[in-house]
Amino acid sequence: MAKIKTAWFCSSCGAQAGKWLGKCPSCGEWNTMEESIVSRNEPGLGGKGSLISLSARPLHSIESLTLKRISTENGELDRVLGGGLVPGSIILVGGEPGIGKSTLMLQVALQMKKTRILYVSGEESGEQIRMRADRLKIDQTDIYVLTDTSTDVITEHARQLNPGLVIIDSIQTIVNPVLESTAGSIPQIRESASVLQKFAKTSAIPVILIGHITKDGTIAGPKILEHMVDTVLQFEGDQHYGYRILRAVKNRFGSASELGIFEMSGNGLREVNNPSEVLLSQREDPLSGIAVAASLEGNRPMLIELQSLVGVSPYATPQRSATGLDSRRLSMLLAVIEKKGGYRLANKDVFINVAGGFRIDDPATDLAVVAAVLSSSEDVPIDQNVCFAAEIGLSGEIRPVFKLDQRIAEASKLGFRKMVVSKFNGKSIPNIKGSLEVVQVAKLDEVFRFIFA
Ligand code: TYD
Ligand code: MG
Repeated sequence: MAKIKTAWFCSSCGAQAGKWLGKCPSCGEWNTMEESIVSRNEPGLGGKGSLISLSARPLHSIESLTLKRISTENGELDRVLGGGLVPGSIILVGGEPGIGKSTLMLQVALQMKKTRILYVSGEESGEQIRMRADRLKIDQTDIYVLTDTSTDVITEHARQLNPGLVIIDSIQTIVNPVLESTAGSIPQIRESASVLQKFAKTSAIPVILIGHITKDGTIAGPKILEHMVDTVLQFEGDQHYGYRILRAVKNRFGSASELGIFEMSGNGLREVNNPSEVLLSQREDPLSGIAVAASLEGNRPMLIELQSLVGVSPYATPQRSATGLDSRRLSMLLAVIEKKGGYRLANKDVFINVAGGFRIDDPATDLAVVAAVLSSSEDVPIDQNVCFAAEIGLSGEIRPVFKLDQRIAEASKLGFRKMVVSKFNGKSIPNIKGSLEVVQVAKLDEVFRFIFA
């Protein structure tokens, strides 16, 4: 007898429970538990006396697969995916509304000239998609647009068309007709994603899901979606700047620290292959408050400009503001400058920005942050040919960073002449080629002396 088994899921964090609860035991939110289908009972599984043939196999007897990847014809996207799309994989591309998810995916669909694409949109009409495609100015004739939101219709179309890639824009508009809940609700997102996941696995057709993201950075509603897919990519950037970053947050088939960079232009997203060149401003004279960090995002060295403004505060409580950097990290660095460097900042406002609207969280930028702050505070410009790569510890020690050789190589390629690093970086320093001079420091006062020399 077919029996449908249901469970309760928290609409806030996705936690599962066997019964209704007023308060979610996982995230503590009230009234968030919703019922949904877990399984339609297939008789014979488990239970007493069931005849299940053992399907566990010795690991060494399982053939190892070499993944055949499908190139998306987009270098930055391929890089983030770990070399292209894996057949049968399911990928979630998340980002805030308006950041360019639909543009990126339609552009990729158009760029994959040799692949048949099924582009499903629950958000836009066929005409709107056509208008965007015209704007992107790429010719691709084997692309099918479906503006339906039911998983039944989508999978049926996909079976008949047999495309090389299915793109769903967005998962929040898709419904599994089995459930009565509205599109975008947790049960709907989970159930429709699960149908699409099964479709991908059984057909070996890769499926890309677009998902909207909430302000706090989680893919709207269900964390559970992140667990269901093979790869989670996040598309981010400041609406006011042209740069967009595609970050791998999770990747079953590649590194989760890769990063792709794009620039939004009048006709689509341009791939930025050499980020440092666009991130460094072209200036004639050195200006105070600017320091360049040799940072590493994923496996990609990037020279990033930090801009700081330090001035006497008109208020009793001075302002501290960091854009593109963790503000707690800034507070910590300011405290270290005061306590260990003996440098007074308590009555000063401190602002720091990462140029180009980028967000970085590489601790190797610490030294450049400190340099930018000191440079602005004293109104002493830092030589434009100097860059920094070191972490700063709580006791003011200048700590080593990893992959220094890659950072040095990038800086030297871009024509920097000096790089300030930690004395403790040891072995990676001697084997440097080129004209870049490496300055080693161990303590904060050596940094002060270097900047104010
Ligand atoms: P969109 O891709 O619809 O964002 P999302 O799907 O993430 O909500 O739109 C991104 C923005 O980019 C939109 O404001 C219009 C703009 N845009 C360009 O600047 N150039 C272009 O070529 C296109 C197609 C859009
Ligand atoms: Mg969109």
